[in-house]
Amino acid sequence: MQKKFKTKVLSCSDEDIKIAAQLICSSQVVGMPTETVYGLAADATDAVAVSRIFVAKGRPSDNPLIVHISSMSMLSDIVEEIPELAVKCAEAFWPGPLTMVLPKKNIIPPVTSGGLDTVGVRFPSDETARKLISFSGKPLAAPSANLSGSPSPTTAKHVLDDMNGRIPAIIDGGSCNVGVESTVISFDGDAIRLLRPGFVSVEMLSEITENIIIDKGVLEQLALNAKVSSPGMKYKHYSPKADIYIIKSDYDSFVRYVNENKQSGDAVMLFDGEAEIDEVKTVFYGETSQQQAQRVFGALRECDEIGAKRVFARCPSTEGVGLAVYNRLLRAAGFKLIEL
Ligand code: TXA
Ligand code: MG
Repeated sequence: MQKKFKTKVLSCSDEDIKIAAQLICSSQVVGMPTETVYGLAADATDAVAVSRIFVAKGRPSDNPLIVHISSMSMLSDIVEEIPELAVKCAEAFWPGPLTMVLPKKNIIPPVTSGGLDTVGVRFPSDETARKLISFSGKPLAAPSANLSGSPSPTTAKHVLDDMNGRIPAIIDGGSCNVGVESTVISFDGDAIRLLRPGFVSVEMLSEITENIIIDKGVLEQLALNAKVSSPGMKYKHYSPKADIYIIKSDYDSFVRYVNENKQSGDAVMLFDGEAEIDEVKTVFYGETSQQQAQRVFGALRECDEIGAKRVFARCPSTEGVGLAVYNRLLRAAGFKLIEL
């Protein structure tokens, strides 16, 4: 029988990041901290390395990867054209949690872009991620480091829970600051099209242009055969084993609803400071939208740890980064939203 190997945990020291960079340069996949969530990084220009990411995650091959850079010169190496609006967004939000979809150069192989002629590019602010890119001298393709369909990982432990034995190493950079994945945008003439909400909010993008289109796939469940602007919108996402329901109401109505419907195996996701409900397990997920962003994926994983079969979640605010929290929960819930 083949012996299962263990994933090596590296620190954020330059020495360890150089070990990770050597792995990248030999077509391997490494778990990488970023300010949003952990990523599974490999050389974006190396088709063999990138195909290993898809295997480790169990990801459908038509779902493209985001390519991470650590300098603006890397951007012109990988994209054909940088529209004026993209330059403005880069000036305002890079380095940081914003991904821009741009026409790709041939140096990015089809396996990285899911066969599309565009590539999503992000210049992360996390120092360790930037060092890993610089030390390896390559743009790094990196999807979130979870098994396909599971909640994204915001600690090295989450990554190990999903990836132990599937990748050679992970760099432990502690908890991710933002907690939800980057905002993804594309450019539609003079407009910015929001494909995935994140920390860089609609309100923040409005400082660049008023002309913002929120893609239908952000808040609605698309039909199975619908044409999507971003392949990730098609797939079930962020789901724990439990069946999640979002309840849009005030706290008192929420409690009444749970008490009227509760069964054994139920749990609730409450905001910090709210009173627990008798006979129902509780997972707290922050008070402010920023805290909720940091905690939502960990909370979804915790629902599995406590063995919840069904979870009723308080509905987050949709302002600022709250829209990202709402979008992730809605997907985790398979769009099951109950308005009281
Ligand atoms: O914060 C993040 O973006 C994290 C960290 C690791 O950087 N990465 C991440 O990657 O969330 P992933 O693969 O889990 O999500 C990428 C999303 C997918 O929904 C994908 O469909 C979309 O971005 N995407 C990537 N390239 C695209 C493209 N060329 N056109 C449209 N959507 C694209
Ligand atoms: Mg993901």
